[in-house]
Amino acid sequence: MPSMDESWQLRNGLVIPNRSVLAAMTNKQSHVDGTLSDDEATFLLRRAKGGFGIITTAASHVQESGQGWVGELGVWGDHHLPGLTNLATRLKEYEARSFVQIFHGGMRAPSSITGQQPCSASENYISEKEGNSRELTTQEVEETISAFVDAAKRCESAGFDGVELHGAHGYLIAQFLGTNTNRRSDQFGGNMKARCKFLLEIIRGIRTVVHPDFAIMVRLSPVSEEIGITLQDTKQVIELLLEEEIDALHISCWDVFEKQQNGRTITEEICSAYSDSIPIVSTGSVWSAKDAQFVLDRGAQAVGVARVALPHPDWASLVSEPTYNPSRPPFAPKQLLSADLSPIFVDYMRRWKGFVTDGR
Ligand SMILES: Cc1cc2nc3c(=O)[nH]c(=O)nc-3n(C[C@H](O)[C@H](O)[C@H](O)COP(=O)(O)O)c2cc1C
Repeated sequence: MPSMDESWQLRNGLVIPNRSVLAAMTNKQSHVDGTLSDDEATFLLRRAKGGFGIITTAASHVQESGQGWVGELGVWGDHHLPGLTNLATRLKEYEARSFVQIFHGGMRAPSSITGQQPCSASENYISEKEGNSRELTTQEVEETISAFVDAAKRCESAGFDGVELHGAHGYLIAQFLGTNTNRRSDQFGGNMKARCKFLLEIIRGIRTVVHPDFAIMVRLSPVSEEIGITLQDTKQVIELLLEEEIDALHISCWDVFEKQQNGRTITEEICSAYSDSIPIVSTGSVWSAKDAQFVLDRGAQAVGVARVALPHPDWASLVSEPTYNPSRPPFAPKQLLSADLSPIFVDYMRRWKGFVTDGR
C-alpha cells in the first residue's frame, strides 16, 4: 500500500508530489463581484506552503445564476482572471498542483443572491421561502455547458493545473444525475446515461478547448437520498466517465469509516472496482495519520481533507509521521486566525457545530 508522502500520477501523467489533497472549502472571502481577495489567496497559499500535493479552491460559480453563497469565488467573467492568475502564479512557488473547483448551484443558488428564480434540471420544490426551481430549457442547458467550458478555459489561461467539476453535494451537476431532481423529457433526462449527458458534454467541451496536460477531476457524492443517487447509479456514472478524457475522480464520503450493509466502506466499494482504471481521491472525516492510511489501505490513491487543514495548515507535511494525531475541535478563534483564516472565514466556521469555541 502507498504511504502519504509518495508521489502519484493522474491519467494525463500529471505528477502529484504526495497523497494529501486540500478539498474544496467555501470560505466566503471573495469580493462581491466574485474576484479573489487577498485573504482567500493567503489562506490557500499557507496550505500550499504546508505541503499539500493538491490545493483546490472553493466552489466557484460558472454563471451569475449559479452563485450559492455571498462571498463566493467567481469564474464566469474575464474580470476574474487577474486574481486567478495571481493565485495560480504564487501557488507555483510551492510543489502543490492547483485546481479550481467549478460549479453551478442550480436550485441551491438562492434568489436573494442571484436576483433570479433558481433553476434546475426540473421544477423541484426548494423551500417554503424559495418556492420551486424552474426547469432549464434545452437551450439554457447548452448555454450552461458552454459556461463550464469557458470557465475551465479561463482557469487554464490563469495557469492552474486543472479543474474539479463539482458533481457532488446536490448542486446542478448532481441535480442532473439524480432521479428525484431530473425528470426531463429531452436528451438530458431519462435513463442514467441521459441524466449523465450534462456532465459528459461539459467534459467533452472542456477537452476541445484545453491542452491535454490540463487535468479534469470529477467530484461525486456516491450516495444521495435527497437527489436520488444510489451507489449503483454512481458506479454507472463512473463507467460512463471512464470512457471520457478525465484524469481523476474524487468521492465525497463525509465519513470514510462508515460501512455499507456488506461491511465495506464506500471507498473500498468504489476503489476495488475502479482504482486500477482511474486515480481516486476519497474525503470525509479524516483527522490523524492513522485515518489517512486507512483510506489509502482501502484502495484510494490520495486522501482529501478539509476541516483538519483549518487549524493545522502543515497537516500534509506532518502526516507522514504515523503517530501524527493533531488536536481536535473546538478551536479558539485566535488559533484559526493565526492559521491564516480571515475573521470572515472564522465567523463562517462558527456555523459548523462544535468547531469554534464561541460558535454553535
Ligand atoms: C467550511 C467548509 C466549506 C466547504 N465547501 C465546499 C465546497 O465549496 N465544495 C465542496 O465540494 N465541498 C465543500 N466542503 C466539503 C469538504 O470538501 C469535505 O468534503 C468535507 O468537509 C468532509 O471532509 P473533512 O471531514 O475533512 O472536513 C466544505 C467543507 C467545509 C468544512
